[in-house]
Amino acid sequence: MDKKEFSDKFYEKFGNRNEEPVLFFSPGRVNLIGEHTDYNGGFVFPCALNYGTYLSVRKNNSNKLRFSTLNFKSDEETDIKGLFINNSRKWINYPLGVINEFLKKGIKIGGMDLLYFGDVPNGAGLSSSASIEMVTAVALNELFSAGLNTLEMVKMSQKAENEFVGMNCGIMDQFAVGFGKKDHAIFLNCDTLAFENVPLVLNDCSLIITNTNKRRGLTDSKYNERRAECDKAVELLQAYKTIRNLSELTTMEIPLLEKYIMDPVVMQRAKHVISENGRVQEAVKVLKENNIIRFGELMNESHDSLKDDYEVTGDELDTLVYEGRKLPGVLGTRMTGAGFGGCTVSIVKTKYSENFMKELAPVYTKKTGLVPDFYLPEIGNGARRLE
Ligand code: GLA
Repeated sequence: MDKKEFSDKFYEKFGNRNEEPVLFFSPGRVNLIGEHTDYNGGFVFPCALNYGTYLSVRKNNSNKLRFSTLNFKSDEETDIKGLFINNSRKWINYPLGVINEFLKKGIKIGGMDLLYFGDVPNGAGLSSSASIEMVTAVALNELFSAGLNTLEMVKMSQKAENEFVGMNCGIMDQFAVGFGKKDHAIFLNCDTLAFENVPLVLNDCSLIITNTNKRRGLTDSKYNERRAECDKAVELLQAYKTIRNLSELTTMEIPLLEKYIMDPVVMQRAKHVISENGRVQEAVKVLKENNIIRFGELMNESHDSLKDDYEVTGDELDTLVYEGRKLPGVLGTRMTGAGFGGCTVSIVKTKYSENFMKELAPVYTKKTGLVPDFYLPEIGNGARRLE
């Protein structure tokens, strides 16, 4: 989005060309490996994209918040008179949830005109929600001199999503969107929040994101069901060892756990989480050694485990992944995000990238009736003001 064009749209909506709005950007993210581990205190390895959410914002010297977006027709206005309540899942619940977190901290927020534009597809598992939350947070932080650091804003955005929007997500998305670094992936321990930026050097390979374009329907309820199953596993495993979360266990211990977890479904869930943590650690190690082949294999193993043990994939994601693996130059391919739809992420030899897209699209359409979208993302920086 061109800055001048975006400002013009802002003036068209809100008038007063004499006072310039300030422009902020927050990326979406793609998770390379480490799925459904964040709320289990485990490891994840996401990176921020060069796609995301733009926000043009200006104080309006009133007590009114005026929201608009260029993505669809929606203008919303509301007074600031204390805390907000969730209004039937409209998109402004994401910014309102964040504004609430600022108000709860006693930070004085005045009226603003806010124009949003997102170029990361909604509901595709690329964290469009976290992106809207974090762009709002960095903007408020600057406009109202709140002095918050990135981690505080990440936690407030996650809280907004958990408590205001009502999606019980872990911390990965907001963290990746806040702490993204150009050409690096983030190796994050979701228990301690210690992290390391690891250079994403893929040699002669490219990252390709493929959108199933399947509307995610049951994601939230299934997500909460998985969380409950993991909690159940932790509860049952207290007879084996005192643990706070599944990530305190190692892959070597998996065979010992069946004695304590009689329910085979709960056992499968635990197995996924524990084995996935092992895969993330190995993936980071081999990436540092420049072993992209092994990195790709680990991505494949991750998908298989998400399909067979965690059961969060579905026909669309599986078709992209298993048909994709048959194509030349594909080193690894897996679902990314919560699952049940959304996107896959693949590592493909660059000279085969075009072929990958050309061959995969018709096979996918034939099997599912849906048309996929492909993105060749760059890895970008986290949420920030744009000059
Ligand atoms: C969603 C959630 C994240 C994480 C992933 C699965 O993206 O928002 O917190 O749990 O699913 O890895």
